[in-house]
Amino acid sequence: MRPFLIAPSILSADFARLGDDVQAVLDAGADVVHFDVMDNHYVPNLTIGPMVCQALRDFGITADIDVHLMVKPVDRIIPDFAKAGASIITFHPEASEHVDRSLQLIKESGCKAGLVFNPGTPLHYLDHVMDKLDVILLMSVNPGFGGQSFIPSTLDKLKQVRAKIDASGFDIRLEVDGGVKVDNIAEIAAAGADMFVAGSAIFNQPDYKTVVDEMRSELAK
Ligand code: DX5
Ligand code: ZN
Repeated sequence: MRPFLIAPSILSADFARLGDDVQAVLDAGADVVHFDVMDNHYVPNLTIGPMVCQALRDFGITADIDVHLMVKPVDRIIPDFAKAGASIITFHPEASEHVDRSLQLIKESGCKAGLVFNPGTPLHYLDHVMDKLDVILLMSVNPGFGGQSFIPSTLDKLKQVRAKIDASGFDIRLEVDGGVKVDNIAEIAAAGADMFVAGSAIFNQPDYKTVVDEMRSELAK
């Protein structure tokens, strides 16, 4: 398996001083910026769009930005995020009329592409598109809010997806999002995840480096 990636969700960052807060979490050793896009339609919350992604790039953020689209429809916002500096774009397959077309749009716009599965979303959406995926993201909470508790059945789903990825032979990251903390990250990694989104667990602590270091030492066990 490739090196583990820690991706702080900036949903829990300080939006009033976002550039500084994102730089601080990267300086603390985080790998990737997880950027949650909510539209008050697909999910019952409203967050940030391409202008904020562009603003982070203009501020000088050079790390990969992992754009998690919780929007419906999906397609028309993809080129805007690619232009605004997104590195990875993931979407929920049931929110897209044409999953293969949406994946192609992401790839054609120069970004890595992924599908996101809610706790209750079946995995059959993977069946005919494994060759187009760079990332599979399993939600371990229902999307819409930070600070929720990890849903334990995600561990079994992670094992199923890890087996599918390994059997496919494709180079696909297995990302997990929701309720990831220092005290469960090792168990989540053991189930097959190699990319870990954590929002409240990192940003709600005064010292980001301590949390990131603790997560890495749990992952090294
Ligand atoms: C939820 C978002 C998550 C969220 C995770 O819909 O996709 O990225 O910010 O937050 P925590 O880590 O606090 O559960
Ligand atoms: Zn997310």
